[in-house]
Amino acid sequence: MFRKRILVAGACGQIGSELTLALRERYGNDNVIATGHKTKPGEELLNLGPFQFIDCTDINTIEGVVKKYEVDTIYHLAALLSAVAEAKPQLAWNVNINGLYNVLEVARKYKCAVFTPSSIGVFGPTTPKDNTPQETILRPNTMYGVTKVSGELLCDYYYKKFAVDTRGVRWPGIVSYVTLPGGGTTDYAVEIYYEAIKHRRYTCFLRAGTYLPMMYMSDAVKAAIDIMEADSSKLKYRNAFNVTAMSFAPEDIANEIKKHIPDFVMEYDVDPVRQAIADSWPNSIDDSAAREEWGWKPEYDLVAMTKDMLEKLSDKLKI
Ligand code: SER
Repeated sequence: MFRKRILVAGACGQIGSELTLALRERYGNDNVIATGHKTKPGEELLNLGPFQFIDCTDINTIEGVVKKYEVDTIYHLAALLSAVAEAKPQLAWNVNINGLYNVLEVARKYKCAVFTPSSIGVFGPTTPKDNTPQETILRPNTMYGVTKVSGELLCDYYYKKFAVDTRGVRWPGIVSYVTLPGGGTTDYAVEIYYEAIKHRRYTCFLRAGTYLPMMYMSDAVKAAIDIMEADSSKLKYRNAFNVTAMSFAPEDIANEIKKHIPDFVMEYDVDPVRQAIADSWPNSIDDSAAREEWGWKPEYDLVAMTKDMLEKLSDKLKI
């Protein structure tokens, strides 16, 4: 069994805030060190186990935590998402690439395993759009995509050259109700539920007919835990496994919401930057390699996710 003393970088983010709690439940509160940069951590994150501020672009801050807590596994979730990365490409390169490089260097020195999320952002306009294969053209035209492709290659390199146990998945858009995503192209699929409950109407920044691969948070968390527990010798695509759970366009999610909130109204006001990013990404992806190599299987489809999101959010928003 994999030894576990885990550092989570980006623990205050959309995925980190939920993954950290799931890891603590599984491996023990004191064995999971949550870290964040500037965002104030939520009460639960802060009270259940250790929390430290770090800056991934400063290697000493990562090394300090790894040494102090004798960390053996790093979940490196700290990154800028696609829309923010287009607005701040230099910062995105610095955080997404130099941050990852620092994490890998610390992992090499202290023999840590590393989970790094990649993304559907690695694909570009020349990639086949439907059921996009595991092995395909990776020529993204966004800074986010450039950093994610580079990250996959860098992680592969650290495994081959230095035997660092690097692993990762290409997450699609992630839908969740605990922490809002920060500046991604798939964020509409989260916002729509909040607005449906609060105002019964949503103005979508992507055009109708824009299909994208998506996943509910509990499946995303499961993927991150399962791949790190998988038998290393069985993994061929260590750092770049396609994973998906569903594929839908804005009108599909609106129609599903209408089954629960009949007077829900969807309007469109397209943001050209995020539309262009979405147009460069696949409609759906093929995740058979993940299914074969480490038993990946998602639980939630659009119907089940919508039901759960509306229930959980109504509780949260007290509506
Ligand atoms: N959800 C991310 C984004 O939209 C993609 O990985 O930026």
